[in-house]
Amino acid sequence: MAILGVNIDHVATVRQARKTYEPDPVWAAALAELGGADGITLHLREDRRHIQDRDVRVMKETVSVPMNLELATDEAVLEIACEVRPEQATLVPEKREEVTTEGGLDVVSNRAVVAAAIQKLQGAGIVVSLFLDPEPAQISLANELGVEAVELHTGMYALAKGAARDAELNRLVECASQIRGFGMTLHAGHGLNYHNVKPVAAIEGMCELNIGHSIISRAVFVGIQQAVREMKSLI
Ligand code: PXP
Repeated sequence: MAILGVNIDHVATVRQARKTYEPDPVWAAALAELGGADGITLHLREDRRHIQDRDVRVMKETVSVPMNLELATDEAVLEIACEVRPEQATLVPEKREEVTTEGGLDVVSNRAVVAAAIQKLQGAGIVVSLFLDPEPAQISLANELGVEAVELHTGMYALAKGAARDAELNRLVECASQIRGFGMTLHAGHGLNYHNVKPVAAIEGMCELNIGHSIISRAVFVGIQQAVREMKSLI
């Protein structure tokens, strides 16, 4: 069964709307744990639009499940990651103007920069995952660069409908098999919700799903613990 990493960025987004102290994503992480989260995922963006440096540091001290820090190949953020040493780091692309992470990391076009970031993180004892579109060339290169895991970007699957959705699921299934074949750990995430998660969770060898927006949205009405419990039971 895949484990669930709950992404708590969206709690920080509400806090930053007023630049105040509440709601605190550190509380959200504790409640997600009580609801059964197997891991806590958070994204320290270069523009600090939601998660702040303090959140990463405090959470590392207070969360008892593994922490998965999402980050771009930004020098200052890499420094913080190496200092705080989350159990896992997921390298993602970042554009300041985007609403959320829009696509997978293009390792093929940015090989040297990504390789340097991987080396730095692994040198600090952090397990590295790359967030990639379901494209065989990207996955082959991830394997060459020696990362432990690949997180397949499920955003296209989540947006597609009907036959197009089946085709997107097939792409994920094929790339999952390639990832397993290389001996890397298989993760997936982005856009997964209570209606579309089951087929992705059922992909052979799926180890970890990172889910944020749908869980925090449901939590507004039912509370974080119940929202996490409901997602866990679907997985
Ligand atoms: N995985 C990665 C790499 C992401 O960047 C995000 C969004 O921060 C997620 C998973 C979670 O996506 P969502 O909020 O759509 O569930």
